[in-house]
Amino acid sequence: MKQEALEVLKNRRAIRQFKKDQITKEELAAVLEAGTFAPTGAGTQGVQIVAVQTPAYLERVKALNAQILGKPGMDPYYGAPTVVLVFETEKCYTHTLDGAAVCTNMVNAAYAAGLGSCWIHRCKEMFETPEGKELLKEWGLPENLTGVSSLALGYADCPQPQAAPRREGYVLIV
Ligand SMILES: Cc1cc2nc3c(=O)[nH]c(=O)nc-3n(C[C@H](O)[C@H](O)[C@H](O)COP(=O)(O)O)c2cc1C
Repeated sequence: MKQEALEVLKNRRAIRQFKKDQITKEELAAVLEAGTFAPTGAGTQGVQIVAVQTPAYLERVKALNAQILGKPGMDPYYGAPTVVLVFETEKCYTHTLDGAAVCTNMVNAAYAAGLGSCWIHRCKEMFETPEGKELLKEWGLPENLTGVSSLALGYADCPQPQAAPRREGYVLIV
């Protein structure tokens, strides 16, 4: 067994406090590449990943998520300097599941690369709004993309959280 990979899968935790420093291009590339190697239904690779680092776009994305959350002014991405958005496209054979697989690969890759990450919800609703569609337009993407989820990404600015005990009966072997 590849112990190192299993340790990454077990030890990755959601990080909810980030340093302001931007991650390196190499770190970002490693995380995004891991996303592109996630399994997708029928191998369609129909998922669209968008990494947001430009301050003006970050502000708009964070504000949009906060608006959906009903907490304007809050940063639902915990100060992360990079936000990764994941969309399903018309090419996705297995829709949201493909996007979720991509997100999972990326959070585990982030931990393996020494970064912190956290899944952040409400991506679907964000990109159903006129502002979400305007962002897609400005990025040269089709306005009919469906948001799956998003990730906060950066250097953790907190101690490594501990995993909650695993639920009894989580697994059944028959
Ligand atoms: C689909 C999904 C959506 C999530 N959305 C949020 C979110 O909006 N905000 C947040 O702080 N954490 C979010 N999380 C992170 C979970 O709360 C976190 O994974 C869970 O508490 C377990 O902690 P762990 O990742 O450290 O094991 C989300 C996780 C998943 C899988």
